[in-house]
Amino acid sequence: MSKILITGATGGLGSAVATLFKKQAPSSDIAVLVRDGNSEKALRLAGQGFETRIGSYDDKDSLLKAFDGVDVLYFVSGSDVVARVPQHQNVVQAAKEAGVDHIFYTSASLNDLSEDAPLYGAMSAHIQTEEWIKASGIKYTLLRHNLYSEVIAMFLGTKEQLLAGKTVFLPTGSGRTAFVSRAELAEAGAKLLARPSAHVNKIYELNGNEKITFAQIAGYLSEISGQEIGYVSPDVKTFEDTLTKYGVPAEYIGMMTVFGLAIADGVFDAPTTDLDKILGRKSQPVAEFLRTVYG
Ligand SMILES: NC(=O)c1ccc[n+]([C@@H]2O[C@H](COP(=O)([O-])OP(=O)(O)OC[C@H]3O[C@@H](n4cnc5c(N)ncnc54)[C@H](OP(=O)(O)O)[C@@H]3O)[C@@H](O)[C@H]2O)c1
Repeated sequence: MSKILITGATGGLGSAVATLFKKQAPSSDIAVLVRDGNSEKALRLAGQGFETRIGSYDDKDSLLKAFDGVDVLYFVSGSDVVARVPQHQNVVQAAKEAGVDHIFYTSASLNDLSEDAPLYGAMSAHIQTEEWIKASGIKYTLLRHNLYSEVIAMFLGTKEQLLAGKTVFLPTGSGRTAFVSRAELAEAGAKLLARPSAHVNKIYELNGNEKITFAQIAGYLSEISGQEIGYVSPDVKTFEDTLTKYGVPAEYIGMMTVFGLAIADGVFDAPTTDLDKILGRKSQPVAEFLRTVYG
């Protein structure tokens, strides 16, 4: 059997992939990459029977050691949007030098994203990483993820916060997004990992099959909560000023603004999806996801 290494295994996506994949492969075939072997999450993974390998995307030598004997790499994109271009370059170079045979990379599903778009800085790493992986000659499978359904909850806050304001207040206009739950992206990833040879040099667009606006989301939330939830799409200045007044950190406001504008521009309005076919069923409707958070 092949040795499979899952990165980002202390995070939401990677840990779910590791847990699901373990049900279909012997533990001896699976390793997970962690930055700190003594962290609570790393110790928990070791306790679950995973071989933990230490490495950081910032340190190519650590990756070279961690990738020793690895055939298949499930590479979770880094969470530091500023640092991840050089980090991803380290990962691809180390994989090449260590003789990794096949990389599954968690990329992003993006409609035309011009270089002058506000979101370009945050997402260009995915475009660049796909190119590096293809140029490396390593077999690849690109898993282009749309925005997580969890991002909606990140934007809107807790049930208590939502019901206090009774308004979805985001500069997303009438843009539509094919949101997809992180759990289902993990499930799809684990299924594909079970037979890497069937997915060589393939690109999968992993989108929800519903493309919805935040006005529709406000409608779902009204139904779920039994209270009228409005939708307001402010201009950028009003959005930034309002959030600043409420004490939201500038970094967070900046992130919500660029993603909000990209949503308004239809960057996540995906025309197709491969997800249902991989899962063997229809993916979770957004309303159902919202019910788990706000019901
Ligand atoms: N599609 C979307 O809507 C969406 C939303 C959010 C994020 N993302 C992207 O998808 C990825 C996975 O999402 P997630 O929800 O699982 O994120 P997460 O819970 O924040 O997990 C990120 C994982 O990456 C690891 N990591 C970060 N920097 C690293 C480095 N320099 N070296 C080695 N490992 C590193 C983290 O390790 P530590 O535990 O050591 O920090 C953690 O295990 C994110 O990293 C981000 O690129 C996509």
